[in-house]
Amino acid sequence: MGRPRERKTSSRTGPVIFSASGGLSLAGAVAGQLGLQLGKRDLDRFPDGECHVRVLESVRGHDVYLLVSTGPPVEANLVELLLLADACRRAGAARLTAVIPYFGYARQDRRASGRESVGARVIADLLEAGGLDRVVAVDLHSPALEGFFSMPLEHLTAVPLLAEALRHSGVGAGGVVVAPDLGAARLADRYARLLELPVAIVHKTRLSGREVSTHGVSGDVDGRQPLIVDDMISTGGTIEAAAKSLAAAGSLPVAAIAATHGLLVAGAGERLAAVNARRVIVTDSVAVPPGLRLPLEIVSIAPILARAVQHLHEDRSLADLVAGS
Ligand code: R5P
Repeated sequence: MGRPRERKTSSRTGPVIFSASGGLSLAGAVAGQLGLQLGKRDLDRFPDGECHVRVLESVRGHDVYLLVSTGPPVEANLVELLLLADACRRAGAARLTAVIPYFGYARQDRRASGRESVGARVIADLLEAGGLDRVVAVDLHSPALEGFFSMPLEHLTAVPLLAEALRHSGVGAGGVVVAPDLGAARLADRYARLLELPVAIVHKTRLSGREVSTHGVSGDVDGRQPLIVDDMISTGGTIEAAAKSLAAAGSLPVAAIAATHGLLVAGAGERLAAVNARRVIVTDSVAVPPGLRLPLEIVSIAPILARAVQHLHEDRSLADLVAGS
């Protein structure tokens, strides 16, 4: 189970926030909201591609937060986070928290078939071995991921922020919140409660990383305007397939799409454009690729992360920031 952790007390100084390549501007926004400058560090690469990290200011005795989003390129961002943690630990940081707005590998949380790795567990083990004291994550693909960690994991949510943005979609009582697959049903239920709308679920089967198929919709979508919600959009295949199923079940055109993590890779722009929703709302948990021709709205989670850092630093409750059931 790794080495015993030293007891942390609230006498430590800080907080100090460090960024890496993943989520750089979000880290700057979080630090700015707390009236802080980002910690000084040097990140570079050796000619053979190895990452090298050096912290350029004293962190001895400080409460340190490493804000690194592990979106694409996932492995490079992850290694930067691990090396940054190691540099801070060796430099005497009193407490080390990784704030990971988008947690790469979270979807690999079980073996869907034999002879498969469970990537999320491997990443959790790496973070434990990296000397971190705690992880903060946002709208994980599966909340059960917390059980992969023996250190505390604080699971924050952007759902109230995104629901507030969806409230202005002009659908009124004729809307329906849609989970594009069974895995998103609880999430859709949380949106539906906040928006006071009914829920529908599209039944999806994933064929590969890029391909999905759907087979029916549960719930009444006939003549209603769908608001499709999900934890993340990667290739957009799930949303595109859900929109087709909804149309086949008699819904009106999709009014809006909302997801916490907008990876938007591998042709997602074209797939989402084909859905023709009036709004596509994501957060800044990962940097959205440039040049997408979509009615994209980006809601910042910097206020949530800044409050979380402040509360954790002061050993105060996170109750109003964490993901509920
Ligand atoms: C999967 O269960 C997730 O919640 C998302 O629905 C999925 O990962 C989105 O991926 P894509 O956009 O590539 O279909």
